Amino acid sequence: MLSLMPIQVLETLAEMRALPKRRPRAVVMTMGALHDGHRALLQSARKWSGVDGELVVTVFVNPLQFAAGEDLDRYPRTWQQDLEMCEQEGVTAVFAPRVDDMFSVGRDITLDPGPLGEILEGKARPDHFAGVLTVVAKFINLTNADAAVFGEKDYQQLALINRMVQQLEIPIEILSVPTIRDADGLALSSRNQYLTPQERQAAAVLPAALSAAVEVAATGGGAEDAVVAAEKELTANELVVPDYVVVTDPLLGPAPEHGDARILIAAAVGGTRLLDNAALHLETR
Ligand code: PAF
Repeated sequence: MLSLMPIQVLETLAEMRALPKRRPRAVVMTMGALHDGHRALLQSARKWSGVDGELVVTVFVNPLQFAAGEDLDRYPRTWQQDLEMCEQEGVTAVFAPRVDDMFSVGRDITLDPGPLGEILEGKARPDHFAGVLTVVAKFINLTNADAAVFGEKDYQQLALINRMVQQLEIPIEILSVPTIRDADGLALSSRNQYLTPQERQAAAVLPAALSAAVEVAATGGGAEDAVVAAEKELTANELVVPDYVVVTDPLLGPAPEHGDARILIAAAVGGTRLLDNAALHLETR
């Protein structure tokens, strides 16, 4: 669906605050380098807000969520392509603030994600989720949106954002969109650009590991069997170094004996950290 109005590019917090509000307004928060996974978020957000509503996209490579030595400086920046995708998807306004404007009043107050922010990705990247939640809360306030759409690809991030909105009574609806995958199953991610052709090929073991776990669960295996099956696939390629393979309940609590569960994996492929996850239904009794 194409918008009738030209897209507005807002570069300052003042411009964002001054955007006249027409309800309903949905927001998709991104760090740019948009791919078809983001396109699915944009389409879902546009569907939610409807033809008369608004769709705001934020583009901001958030320094608070990168630790020293991570890829903040080399994170891909593809502004022109990002704008083109936003135009194609009928985005009303793109809000791309500069770091100094975003934090002009300071950045010493941050949100504590609690124990859920200390496991899995939070264990590997200790301040990551505090940085994510702080900026997500700030963008919710700045954009004054009624709904925000996030991908299931970053499942722990999605769970934490849902928890934050619920516990802090933030008046916004959070929607989620299933992961979009390449033909071989690899989840789309801006960081896939870092992979060499050989690493890109090796990365296909991540979705293969998830499929193996789903299969084991569907045929009567328990959480541990699913983990073993996934680990076997992950370790089949020497370019892939697994970090964790974990089965949890859908809210990231301990794995249930049976019923709905989630498997989450992280692995380094070359120097690139890749994440993926899938729903599992444990049929054990
Ligand atoms: O998922 C992302 O791209 C980022 O973590 C987000 C939600 C835009 C916050 O910087």
